[in-house]
Amino acid sequence: MSVLARFLQRDPSGEVDGPVIEPLRRRHLGQVLPIEESSYPTPWSRATFESELDQVRGGSREYLVARRGRAVLGYAGLWIVPDPGGDQAHVTNVTVDPAHRREGVATALLVELARRAIDRGCVAWTLEVRVSSTGAQELYRSFGFAPAGVRTRYYENTEDAIVMWCHDIHLPEYRARIEELACTR
Ligand SMILES: CC(C)(COP(=O)(O)OP(=O)(O)OC[C@H]1O[C@@H](n2cnc3c(N)ncnc32)[C@H](O)[C@@H]1OP(=O)(O)O)[C@@H](O)C(=O)NCCC(=O)NCCS
Repeated sequence: MSVLARFLQRDPSGEVDGPVIEPLRRRHLGQVLPIEESSYPTPWSRATFESELDQVRGGSREYLVARRGRAVLGYAGLWIVPDPGGDQAHVTNVTVDPAHRREGVATALLVELARRAIDRGCVAWTLEVRVSSTGAQELYRSFGFAPAGVRTRYYENTEDAIVMWCHDIHLPEYRARIEELACTR
């Protein structure tokens, strides 16, 4: 993010104004869908988002939105998967409006998702990322994710996915890492 852009976002106390992170609601979908459509070759439909949001009530999903004022800047979600070895959190979606990338929005969303996964007792989290999405891989590495395998032709039956995992998120060291990332933005 440029120095000028950061300066323009300062509040009167001199702090950089981060986005507000809060639960994603149906009312946000009017702004979420165009971001989704501009970001993926096979975007999620409104019906898919609604079905995911329905599952938030049952406790198996967490969805968050990042907004500044009324403008939605990005969104992200988790699927909490029960496991005898300790519950796991699968990242289902992390997307930022192309006009607001490299402003720390995804970092802010992932920090809050991590806190929620930890608070819910998860011991690990995981995600898939396109081989070509090297920026996203860089972002995930900063959260401690490491490549663990490849799903061949996972996207559009063409592009491979790298499966990344981050273990031991229940340990105090990981919480400290997350809070450190929260402070960098
Ligand atoms: C990937 C994505 C979510 C990143 O969102 P973002 O808000 O721009 O990410 P952040 O600003 O929090 O980036 C944090 C760090 O991640 C890395 N990073 C993020 N995007 C990057 C890019 N395009 N190129 C290189 N590094 C990148 C950088 O280290 C960055 O820190 P810096 O800006 O100080 O250098 C966003 O580009 C996006 O929505 N892409 C399309 C959808 C997508 O691919 N989602 C991921 C699905 S797995």
